[in-house]
Amino acid sequence: MTTTASIVERYKNVMFPAAAPYHGDNPLVVDHAKDQYIWDIDGNKYLDFFGGVLTVSVGHCNEEITARTIEQLQKVQHTSTVYINEIMVRVAEKVVELTPGRLQKVYFTNSGTEANETAIMAARMYTGNPTIIALRHAYSGRSMTAMTVTAHGTWRLGGVVDPYIRHVRNPYTFRAPAGLTPQQVVDLCVQDLEETLATVTDGKLAAFIAEPIQGVGGFIVPPQDYFGRIAPIVRAAGGVFISDEVQTGWGRTGGKWFGIEQWGVEPDVMTFAKGMGNGSPIGCTVTTPEIAEAVKGATFSTFGGNPVTMATVLATLEYMEKYDLKTNAAEQGARLRAKLEELQSEFNFIGEVRGMGLMQALEIVKPHSTEPDAARTAALLNAAKDKGLLLGKGGLYGNVIRISPHLNTTAADVDTATELLAKALVAVS
Ligand SMILES: Cc1ncc(COP(=O)(O)O)c(C=O)c1O
Repeated sequence: MTTTASIVERYKNVMFPAAAPYHGDNPLVVDHAKDQYIWDIDGNKYLDFFGGVLTVSVGHCNEEITARTIEQLQKVQHTSTVYINEIMVRVAEKVVELTPGRLQKVYFTNSGTEANETAIMAARMYTGNPTIIALRHAYSGRSMTAMTVTAHGTWRLGGVVDPYIRHVRNPYTFRAPAGLTPQQVVDLCVQDLEETLATVTDGKLAAFIAEPIQGVGGFIVPPQDYFGRIAPIVRAAGGVFISDEVQTGWGRTGGKWFGIEQWGVEPDVMTFAKGMGNGSPIGCTVTTPEIAEAVKGATFSTFGGNPVTMATVLATLEYMEKYDLKTNAAEQGARLRAKLEELQSEFNFIGEVRGMGLMQALEIVKPHSTEPDAARTAALLNAAKDKGLLLGKGGLYGNVIRISPHLNTTAADVDTATELLAKALVAVS
């Protein structure tokens, strides 16, 4: 008989141990999903407030999207980029229309990792400089370059290879030296960037790459003037500004299409994946004509821009526009945030509530301290699942709960989720 236990046993027999699912000895084996719900193989129903890591942006098996995926699947599935398909051009036009400033040239791949690889390659070819500055606590993907940009020791496997990728202090106000104001944290970050440039580089940059809100890092939200102070230093060193919007893009942060817009800074390159395709494998890099022009020679991605993914992406972006989901993300995000702050006042192990829009986090600590409590965080994730609520986890210390429902979530779902979360918090108190 097919049960969770039997599938988990078979999974362990054939999969890399490093591909470790959530929930320890009791992982969730998915049977099917619809809109905001997932059902496991044993018939239990869950309210999904993680969306496959901020990827199912408009609901599981969304009928309006799925219909267009199937329609395209029956028309033409794959040709590779040696031929042109119109639907790829339409998606690129939509990306150019919605992204800010002079971002006008698009390249499609299959993942956030590849989108970031493309951005770094283009920045290096455009500037003629090799050096990349990234942030500590960043997550950039799983190729060797992306793992080198990543600055979580646990996600850097196999030896890192790129000596030109340097990391600077990130604006993590909750874990900054005690007593510093957010303004002083930004000062410290600026000083670290300047010292890094002066000491371990030749002063010339290819790029600065950052997530507007560090995702895997635990939804770390920089102070309001952070990017505005970093960008001129990067540009003075000849570098371009790459905004990794893999988690923050496409309305997630509420009110704006892209995370970096919340800081009023115009990047030279943006990278996308995840929520752009509501679960279809997509990577996308958009940049200025000059930077795109500098990528001389041939580059190729077999599945990049394939018609079925493009149909799904186009349907997803049009759905977001039609239902004004960036506004919904702001409204439901505010509702969620208020309820999380109420919970913080009741539970002394919630150290900080932070985030933007429908990207909210709880940093779990030992009571009345800032000491991370990874054990209680894992227990909370499991307790929420037992109550029927799926959440995410993150943070360098494994002590951040990540909450990221679909962008078309409702007030009723936010209320249900926070009620279930409250019960889970009691269970781990
Ligand atoms: C900010 C960010 N960039 C890049 C990636 C890599 O994306 P992918 O897993 O699609 O390669 C991720 C994945 O979690 C991410 O969160």
